Amino acid sequence: MSVHSQYNLQSHFNAEVTVVCGTRNVSIMQLLDADHIINYTSDSFVNKDERYDLILAINGNYLLSDYKKALKYQGRVVIVGGSLSQLLKSLTFGKLLFLGSKKLHTLSAKPSTADLQMILQLVEQKKVIPVIDRFYPLDQTAVALNYLQQGHAQGKVIINIDEAISSSEY
Ligand SMILES: NC(=O)c1ccc[n+]([C@@H]2O[C@H](COP(=O)([O-])OP(=O)(O)OC[C@H]3O[C@@H](n4cnc5c(N)ncnc54)[C@H](OP(=O)(O)O)[C@@H]3O)[C@@H](O)[C@H]2O)c1
Repeated sequence: MSVHSQYNLQSHFNAEVTVVCGTRNVSIMQLLDADHIINYTSDSFVNKDERYDLILAINGNYLLSDYKKALKYQGRVVIVGGSLSQLLKSLTFGKLLFLGSKKLHTLSAKPSTADLQMILQLVEQKKVIPVIDRFYPLDQTAVALNYLQQGHAQGKVIINIDEAISSSEY
């Protein structure tokens, strides 16, 4: 997963949550109360006997067949991100490979005011705890994007528009 927020699935859905992250993100995951942590630099969910109801595939480059194997009967994998080849394979072969009780879905985020309001509410209720890596002023947007492109941001990268608006008012 990428470390951007921890939706408090434990209390909201009474779920047991396993996260996959690298070494430097393990302590953040512990702070966010993950039930189980798999460090992808030394371990893999692929080698484990554990089976999951839902896999949210945010980052990584795993075979679709590995996700399928790791699902329980009637389990779901939702491909959010990852390598380009993995995304292309999901769109091309996903339906065929997931004939049967286990299903694959791809997620494409569509900006929506209603969704933002719901997320804001969850943040206010502390059901979502956002992890913020760093802030950039608006004129440093290119630097921020370059940092994101390296693929190791340790949380949300924020462009601070307020500062630009207030300085342009003078
Ligand atoms: N479907 C959609 O609508 C949608 C919308 C937005 C983004 N996305 C996609 O979602 C993905 C994540 O985006 P992002 O904004 O979070 O930025 P990102 O820069 O791709 O994610 C950075 C984080 O991913 C972790 N990471 C990298 N490889 C990993 C692996 N194999 N296993 C677990 N964690 C790994 C990094 O940890 P380490 O530094 O420890 O490696 C870092 O914390 C991207 O592929 C992006 O294209 C999809």
